[in-house]
Amino acid sequence: MEITDYYDIIFKRKSIKKYDLTPLDERALEEISNQLKNLKQMYDDIKTEVKILPLEQVEAKKKKKQAPHYIAIFSEPKNNYLVNAGYMLQEMDLFLSGNDIGSCWLGSPRPNEDVLKNSDLEFVIVMAFGNPQKPKELHRNGASDFKRKPLDEISTVKGADEIVDAARLAPSAGNSQPWFFTGDENMIHVYGSKPYAVKEHKAPKVKKYNTISIGIAIYHLQVAFEHFGKNAEIVSDENAKTNAPENYDYITSLKVK
Ligand SMILES: Cc1cc2nc3c(=O)[nH]c(=O)nc-3n(C[C@H](O)[C@H](O)[C@H](O)COP(=O)(O)O)c2cc1C
Repeated sequence: MEITDYYDIIFKRKSIKKYDLTPLDERALEEISNQLKNLKQMYDDIKTEVKILPLEQVEAKKKKKQAPHYIAIFSEPKNNYLVNAGYMLQEMDLFLSGNDIGSCWLGSPRPNEDVLKNSDLEFVIVMAFGNPQKPKELHRNGASDFKRKPLDEISTVKGADEIVDAARLAPSAGNSQPWFFTGDENMIHVYGSKPYAVKEHKAPKVKKYNTISIGIAIYHLQVAFEHFGKNAEIVSDENAKTNAPENYDYITSLKVK
């Protein structure tokens, strides 16, 4: 099940919404569990916990979208913890897709009370996984199969189209694509859109899922940098922070070492 380069998977992955509820075999679950133990964090100082939960331990009300398994991520609610959670679990989305297993980030299901009680950390989100009901629909045929904004609407980055394109194709809550990128091939600055055109009581939820989505896009950027033989580190850039595009908040920057 090992995958050394996730780049190609970015161009074929998709969210699987309907699952065969038969559990995966023990061996597959063990390999997925091993992969979870070695997930890369965006910020090493944030305490996190990831668990595989069976459907019975998850309150997933929408029957049609139920899956045999879920990965739940819990985190210390520290600065940037939502971005970190998105970054971490996106590796699993690509890992599962690359191994022909369906997956989907889901905002509404929650672990049941017993599971929640067992963690000192804050529950963040789940990712459903399992065999798709229609195995033929597991992957897309390429970048043109994605419904996404064109590159020039989300980026002014110079000289790194192939890298930013990987982030452009990232999944996001409601496909909102709440990101914007500036910079060049040596340093990419990442911004997240402020929740707009949403009722006030919905703004915190939108903000939460948008922030997780930004972490997902950052993971795609990092995979693309690595694919092209570059090693990018996560840094904070004061100048980029003060020059955020209108209606966007500065999140972080990736600097090629
Ligand atoms: C943080 C997050 C939350 C999501 N929540 C849901 C959800 O509650 N229900 C759902 O059907 N899809 C959910 N999705 C999946 C998105 O709808 C999907 O990623 C997006 O439409 C793009 O499609 P794709 O993943 O097939 O490329 C979520 C995605 C993300 C990143």
